Amino acid sequence: MELNMELRSEIKQAIEEMGFNALTEIQELTIPLLLAGKDVIGHSHTGTGKTAAFGIPILEKLDFNQEFVQALVLAPTRELAVQIHDEMMRMAKYIPGCRIVTVFGGDPITNQLYKLKKKPQIIIGTPGRTIDHLERKTIRFDHLKFMVLDEADEMLKMGFQEDIEKIFQAVPEDRQTLMFSATMPRTIIGLAKSYMINPEMIKVIGEDSTNQDVSQYYYKVRRENKTEAIYRLLNVYRPKLSLIFCNTKVQVDELTQELIERGINCDKIHGDLPQTTRLDVLKKFHNSIIDVMVATDVAARGLDIKEVEAVFNYDVPEKADYYVHRIGRTGRIGNIGYSFTLVSKGELKQVEEIERITKTKIKKRSIPTYDKVLDVKNQKIIDKIQALVASDTNFEPQYEIMNKMIQSTMTEDQIIVALLKMLESKSSVEANVADINEEFETKKSWAPTDESNQARFHLNLGKQDDLTVSDILDFVCSKIKISRKDVQNIAILTEFSFFSVPQHFRDEIMKTLNNTKLKGKRAGLSISKPRRSDQKKPYRG
Ligand code: CDP
Ligand code: MG
Repeated sequence: MELNMELRSEIKQAIEEMGFNALTEIQELTIPLLLAGKDVIGHSHTGTGKTAAFGIPILEKLDFNQEFVQALVLAPTRELAVQIHDEMMRMAKYIPGCRIVTVFGGDPITNQLYKLKKKPQIIIGTPGRTIDHLERKTIRFDHLKFMVLDEADEMLKMGFQEDIEKIFQAVPEDRQTLMFSATMPRTIIGLAKSYMINPEMIKVIGEDSTNQDVSQYYYKVRRENKTEAIYRLLNVYRPKLSLIFCNTKVQVDELTQELIERGINCDKIHGDLPQTTRLDVLKKFHNSIIDVMVATDVAARGLDIKEVEAVFNYDVPEKADYYVHRIGRTGRIGNIGYSFTLVSKGELKQVEEIERITKTKIKKRSIPTYDKVLDVKNQKIIDKIQALVASDTNFEPQYEIMNKMIQSTMTEDQIIVALLKMLESKSSVEANVADINEEFETKKSWAPTDESNQARFHLNLGKQDDLTVSDILDFVCSKIKISRKDVQNIAILTEFSFFSVPQHFRDEIMKTLNNTKLKGKRAGLSISKPRRSDQKKPYRG
């Protein structure tokens, strides 16, 4: 490889062996800055080599004769921490004395203590467990030179941010701070910069935030037909590996079971499974022992598995950045991929929102007919048999059986069809031959004719509090003289919800209901901006 960059020969040799033919743009742009001591925010599409963009300069600049921790890389999930560890170990293969240790929750702490005794120079960690070690004083960062937040925008979201803040307080001021992600909302950049000194913002991303090597399609189907839709798409496209995302763990469990019953070789990963199981399933997927992995968003960020050729959204993700990261598990460096998003009536609105925010056009397609699925399956059998006939397999034992069969009362046709029958995969699910495509438009009830006369409320409770539409109706209508049909456009999201009422109810609702009890919790109300008009066309790029 021709590198127009001075690097240790050990690193060059290792990355050549890893098959890096050239550096990617984000690597070309950020590595020199990092070598020169700058703080950097690196923003580039999924699968463009951001790990090496921070990994290479860290390996180049650390002193591996020393025994203290000099670099800390934080990642949002355990699986990603392990992957970064493995990738950096490959790059460090020829560097003598380089020790990298991963610390993450769910892994026995004794195990980690043992590895930490070997005095690693680099730690890859998830925030929670890193703080545990800090508090136990089993890791010290007094000599830290590099602090990296991979998937930085996720790490700086509420929920993680407190932990991150704690860790920043435990590391020297005199350090380089690096942040990388494929999504960097403006609101987060401000926060990111507060941890950095004159950071260089390197953005290798155009208008659209999704990776354009992924062909993105969506399908309108009823919820109850989504499994059938996946089954058909898997059979027609035949991706090497597929990753299917659901919004909840329960849905992951259910779908996995349904696919197994249909004879699909799959397994699942989500936050309620023991850590060893999570890592085992991922390994099976990596090694193509399973063809399909069903997952929650724990698998949405960072995972790099080349053979993933298709990503399915069984559920439309609730946020646009989830969509970007989910579909970014395919189409990685030099590969192309497909993403298939299954959309039921209530989700269409969200697809348009994702298109608008990511400035991407997701094309509408139709689910293949059952006949098409059969055609493809049949052709595959013919191809397989032809390939076998053309190979130099020894068929002697088979000839013996055949001769016996021919001498029996069966005809040749009968023998062949009976053999084909035996080949059929044993699925316990009956074939669904119906056309499962649906036609519907964005819900009209979402678009009242005149929004200017409406007050829109934000309520601090949502799906995670088991809030339902009728809870909101009961809440509003029991204490206020308002008819249930005047409470409109109810939207229940994970952590909060919205509803609209005619303007003249606004003050009374605020006064009477704010800070009262709902579902045993404090109901905090605030006035929200009017909803974006549904008449507005989404971006078509
Ligand atoms: O973090 P990001 O999504 O940008 O990508 P990654 O997880 O670092 O994955 C990049 C993949 O491309 C890895 O499998 C690397 O081994 C490979 N690669 C690279 O990082 N840089 C190159 N110049 C060539 C290949
Ligand atoms: Mg990455």
